[in-house]
Amino acid sequence: MFKNSLFAKLFFTYLILIIISLTALSFIAINLFTRTYLEEVNQHLDNTVQLVRALKNNTTEKGQPIDAQIKGLGKTIQTRITIIDNDGKILADSDSDISTMENHNNRPEVIDARQTGAGQSTRFSHTVSIDMLYFAHPLNPADPAGEIIRVALPLHRINIVTHQIYRTVGIIFLILVIMAVLMGFWIIRKIVYPVKQIVRTAESISRGDLSARVKTASKDEVGQLAQTINLMGGELQKRFSEISREKATLNIVLSSVREGVIAVDANQKIIFANTAVGHLFNVEAGQIVDKYLWEAIRDNNLIGHVKACLSNPAVALSHKDITSPVNKPLRIYCQPIKATPGSFLVVIYDISESMKYEQLRKDFVANVSHELRTPLTFIKGYAETLREHNLGDKAQTLEFLDIIDKNVRQLTNLVEDLLELSRLESRAGIARIRPIKPAKIIDDVVSYFQPAIEQKHHAVTKNIPADCPEISTDPDMLAKAVGNLLDNAIKYTSENGRIEISVIRQSNEIEITVRDNGIGIPAEDIPRLFERFYRVDKSRSREMGGTGLGLSIVKHIIQTLKGEVTVTSQPNQGSAFVIKLPLIRE
Ligand SMILES: Nc1ncnc2c1ncn2[C@@H]1O[C@H](COP(=O)(O)OP(=O)(O)O)[C@@H](O)[C@H]1O
Ligand SMILES: [Mg+2]
Repeated sequence: MFKNSLFAKLFFTYLILIIISLTALSFIAINLFTRTYLEEVNQHLDNTVQLVRALKNNTTEKGQPIDAQIKGLGKTIQTRITIIDNDGKILADSDSDISTMENHNNRPEVIDARQTGAGQSTRFSHTVSIDMLYFAHPLNPADPAGEIIRVALPLHRINIVTHQIYRTVGIIFLILVIMAVLMGFWIIRKIVYPVKQIVRTAESISRGDLSARVKTASKDEVGQLAQTINLMGGELQKRFSEISREKATLNIVLSSVREGVIAVDANQKIIFANTAVGHLFNVEAGQIVDKYLWEAIRDNNLIGHVKACLSNPAVALSHKDITSPVNKPLRIYCQPIKATPGSFLVVIYDISESMKYEQLRKDFVANVSHELRTPLTFIKGYAETLREHNLGDKAQTLEFLDIIDKNVRQLTNLVEDLLELSRLESRAGIARIRPIKPAKIIDDVVSYFQPAIEQKHHAVTKNIPADCPEISTDPDMLAKAVGNLLDNAIKYTSENGRIEISVIRQSNEIEITVRDNGIGIPAEDIPRLFERFYRVDKSRSREMGGTGLGLSIVKHIIQTLKGEVTVTSQPNQGSAFVIKLPLIRE
């Protein structure tokens, strides 16, 4: 841990440098101080020699014994002084009685002084019993064989001073080392701390905490690095939330489409599947991601088609219709994903609705053809018969022409109803709304059908409250719807029937009822009554010039007018058709 710590590296390098330089400095200082001191000692000894020389040259006149003078001087300057005769005998000594002293000619400093003019030695003095530093010079430099002046200092005095130098330098060294260590610790920590913070923040960011930031106010390089890390973190966070948002939007869009969407890679592994896939194949959409297609969806038709698309991109342009495990007709398209070559987008459409419409369309065409063919066959047959045979028989000719005329009317009715339906379909929802009194529409419709009513001797009553409010609706469309209901009531009620048209106002809607006491409708036919071409009794309807389209036109109109139409009926008792319309149409 320590080996990899920046702090430890910096601190120990600094420590070693400080100790090396302070140690070197201390040695230099000790050396310098000691040398200076020793030079001073030498100077002192030298001065003493000069002093003794002067003293010796003056003693003879004063007559005081030299030994006594030397003893006085030695005490004053605290230095041992000895004068040695040319044959080694002691002439004077500041510290000892000269009569007891032995011959000094064999002392190393004396020998040196005699040979080189100056001698020095350090050794134990038996005379004064301590270590001494000796310094010897001839009294007369021109006569080294003559008398010798020797001065000596006790070594321990010198040692005390040198020890003091050592101690002082040592203490200063220690104080400096401690101060340097403390300062170094403080400074390095100050440098390393933000670096550590940067490392910690970068680690947090790499672990996914994109909100982590370095807190530092420093403006140096480390501060700039921290600033850069913070900027990077911010940028990452921004990008990340953008991507998350885009992903969420994409997910919302894809999960709300009704089509199943599956993305597979080149190995048929599912990268993405939306919720619709789950509904279409009865699987859990969230759990099939990262599985192989063949283990997620056990539908051989789907797997086979995707496999074919993967191996042959040309197949991808085509589609395949299959039946889902929940028995729904499905259409599959495979589309290569350009951004990631080899992967495919599989889009699955539920085509049950479109198949239903397709069936409706086919039925409609078949119905129309059939409805057209019947009257056309009549017309063609009777026209041919007329041309070939009976032009002479006027009564029969008229009868045949009547039949032809009736069938032409039937055809006309059919074409008109078909046109009406197609008009309604093409402008579905577009109605010319204006306020109108229901009584006005009903009056118009009844008077339009008056001839037919009279022909069948029906009694038609209108039951409309005098204060009935105006309604906002398309009068032409509503008249057409009420007209169709009245037409049916007239047609499907035997002569002398009773027909009642009533209007009732409810709180926010209006009910228009067309009631008759006619043949009625069997309960089993009621659910399909409003379908195109649906008739309870085909031949009776056709006899009446009916097309089977009237009620589907009514239903269409009322839906366009935002209302609803219902029927209640009892066979042989009569029927009641009720139109409900909103009073005010937004
Ligand atoms: N008021 C009614 N009483 C009895 N049957 C009716 C009545 N209105 C409609 N129907 C039955 O509903 C069928 C469909 O009516 P509609 O769509 O108007 O066609 P049609 O051209 O035959 O009148 C009719 O053929 C008839 O069998
Ligand atoms: Mg009708």
